[in-house]
Amino acid sequence: MKALQYLNKFLFVYRWKLIIGIVITVIARIFSLFTPRLVGNSMNAIEAYFKSPEKDIESLKHVLLLNILIIVGASLVSGFLTFLMRQTIINVSRFIEYDLKNEIYAHYQVLCSRFYKRNRTGDLMSRISEDVSKVRMYFGPALMYSINTLALFVIVISLMVSIAPTLTAYTLLPLPFLSVIIYKLSQAINRRSTVVQETLAKLSSFSQEAFSGIGIIKSYNLQPVVGEKFGALALESKNQNVALAKVQAWFFPLMILLIGCSNLLVIYVGGSQYIAGKIDIGVLAEFIIYVNMLTWPVATVGWVTSIVQQAEASQERINTFLQQKSSIENGSITTPISSPSICFDQVSFTYPDTGITALKDISFTLLPGETLGIVGKTGAGKSTLLELIARQYDPDQGQVQIGAIDAKKYDLNTLRNSMGYVPQNPFLFSETIEDNIRFGHHDATKKEIINAAEQAVVAHNIAGFHDGYQTLLGERGVTLSGGQIQRISIARAFIKNPLILLLDDCLSAVDADTEEQILKNINSFSANKTTCIVSHRISSVKQADKIIVLSEGQLVQQGTHEILIQEKGIYQELAQMQA
Ligand SMILES: Nc1ncnc2c1ncn2[C@@H]1O[C@H](COP(=O)(O)OP(=O)(O)OP(=O)(O)O)[C@@H](O)[C@H]1O
Ligand SMILES: [Mg+2]
Repeated sequence: MKALQYLNKFLFVYRWKLIIGIVITVIARIFSLFTPRLVGNSMNAIEAYFKSPEKDIESLKHVLLLNILIIVGASLVSGFLTFLMRQTIINVSRFIEYDLKNEIYAHYQVLCSRFYKRNRTGDLMSRISEDVSKVRMYFGPALMYSINTLALFVIVISLMVSIAPTLTAYTLLPLPFLSVIIYKLSQAINRRSTVVQETLAKLSSFSQEAFSGIGIIKSYNLQPVVGEKFGALALESKNQNVALAKVQAWFFPLMILLIGCSNLLVIYVGGSQYIAGKIDIGVLAEFIIYVNMLTWPVATVGWVTSIVQQAEASQERINTFLQQKSSIENGSITTPISSPSICFDQVSFTYPDTGITALKDISFTLLPGETLGIVGKTGAGKSTLLELIARQYDPDQGQVQIGAIDAKKYDLNTLRNSMGYVPQNPFLFSETIEDNIRFGHHDATKKEIINAAEQAVVAHNIAGFHDGYQTLLGERGVTLSGGQIQRISIARAFIKNPLILLLDDCLSAVDADTEEQILKNINSFSANKTTCIVSHRISSVKQADKIIVLSEGQLVQQGTHEILIQEKGIYQELAQMQA
């Protein structure tokens, strides 16, 4: 249970609730003992009545009535305390589940792009949901039943031994078998449930993808092929479910069989002892009730063991993620950047997962307020360069300096607060247009939002929507055109009013007129800001103070448009082609 030790800190946080839960459990179990004892007493009283010569029916009635009232009272108290036991211990497990989920989520947010490239979203989600649920089972039912079983065992067995030691030994004989069988069965059930879950996950992700790409499927007439694949997955899922049901079907019959065996044993051994005059009839009745009280807790021992094993495996998976560190380390400088110069000093970068060297020995300097144009063929390393400025990654060699300080020395929040980044594949959330723009600046007023949309030349599009800025985007909302998405993302960067503006090919889907207008707005907006514009189009970068040309990760040309257009090379070729 090494992985589960990580969770001890939560037990400590909720220690008082747990202690109260334990105390309540013990008291509840003590109250549940009244029933067998008083049933035994009643039997003895009835036997005594028949054996006595007076046959005093009134006093027998009196004894029985009293016993019944006490049994009812004690059962009510025990029942109520059992309710409280669940309320405390199960609630604690829910609190811990909540804390653990928050902890994992917070940790996910710290991790870097590398982590997200390596692990699938589905995996991240299943660890924060399914694995956490399994861990909760350990704190909830597993802990509760363990305490309950332990309390019951200590109390009941010591009581049984004090009454009739030999009979106790016989009675308890089948219980270990019961426990082992339930353990094996629970293991098999859990194994098959995991398979069922996995098949179900496959089935749902297949369906999700099929419907996301339904347009392609229909236009290529692939419905029969996709339908067949779905059928095969559904069949597999059905078979797994049937296999699970088969194992589950054994659970109760086996339990009842073993409880039956215990009962038989008590009746046979206890009956023989009664006939031999070694015990009272009441003891026999009492023991039958004890056996039935003990069987369920004994069965839970097996069940709990299997829950704990599953929780252990889940917590191990969670711990692997929790122990991952971001490869981007936080720096200590929190004073806001005042002069946003950008300097690359012999920077090289290789993507660790693919081994692709995206940037080789890049050096250039950009003064505060200047605009940098970055051009180059596809795969040349343009996006990577912007990602290094935004510290999505750190260079392997050389230094990226911002405001003449190594970017690594800044506090990440400080650094990113001063940047507005429009990535190549911008992402809009399934919220309103207004909220999507407001993402760049949480306290933005409506007026500022409209202003940013105007600057990004998307305001007239938004005005054309029925709900205007309240238009809902995403799956259940409006689908925007590529150019609209790009411009809303630009508005999001504008509203942040950043010192450094990074635009990654974000005008590729807009027409020439709109492009010109946006570039003009960027120019007036970025008078004292440093701007980097990545583009495949010469028209987007020709106004820039400096242009760099990348080819296969190397900086092959740099200068202004006027200089580069005269130079033989990629830039000139591009310009001629586009002209
Ligand atoms: N996350 C990543 N992991 C591994 N390799 C990557 C990753 N991103 C990019 N690469 C590789 O690094 C190289 C440079 O990619 P980059 O995205 O910087 O090119 P680009 O100049 O922006 O291209 P484009 O004009 O098509 O956007 C490419 O060979 C690409 O395959
Ligand atoms: Mg790119």
